[in-house]
Amino acid sequence: MAKKTVSVSDELWRPRENEKVDYEPWQRLTLMRLESDTRTQLASRQKRLDHSLSVAKTAEHLAVLYGVNPFLARAAGLLHDWDKVVPKDELLERARYFGIDLGVPLESVEPLLHGMVAARELPDRYPHLPREIWHAIACHTSAAEDMGPLDMVLFVADGIEPLRRDSPGIAQTRSLVGKVSLEDLFWNAFVGGLVYVLETGRYLYPRAIDIYNSLALARQRRRV
Ligand SMILES: [Fe+2]
Ligand SMILES: [Fe+2]
Repeated sequence: MAKKTVSVSDELWRPRENEKVDYEPWQRLTLMRLESDTRTQLASRQKRLDHSLSVAKTAEHLAVLYGVNPFLARAAGLLHDWDKVVPKDELLERARYFGIDLGVPLESVEPLLHGMVAARELPDRYPHLPREIWHAIACHTSAAEDMGPLDMVLFVADGIEPLRRDSPGIAQTRSLVGKVSLEDLFWNAFVGGLVYVLETGRYLYPRAIDIYNSLALARQRRRV
């Protein structure tokens, strides 16, 4: 059987094992602490932990490729699914406590809440980390009208990290890494996510339509 030839450019999306960023000592120490805390927090969910570590590496890789701060990207990747271990009822309770209102019963959007809740809890635990990290974590499930570069890096990394099984949508986003702008890469991942929700008959968070329209108009304006 012929071996599949994979060119270097086909693999631009994948972080390499020996990839190293030249961090300041305090950044290296902070990332080590965050990784250790994440390993403890997600210890009961090995797959979730592996995913988080993989998102962290992929986010760091994308950040370097697109000129975004790799330290913030790696930190956000490590912490983004921090509250995935919280039982559903407890997560809903915490969301109500923080006054999270998505305009629909919270039960119907429960899968979106772990990022929003973590973004409100973690700043107390890590007060020295900048707020961009919390914004990226808050919108990693739902996206937002005001997506910045770090938000886009985390959103895309969450969707394409190597442990995620290939699907036509994921394969397409992966193939675009390094070949299109970060905005276009994010757009592809975001729209691919919406298509997935529609095709699998999942509940569509109503504000997703507003976010889609807002981002679509912003893209049209940039093109004129
Ligand atoms: Fe998540
Ligand atoms: Fe995730």
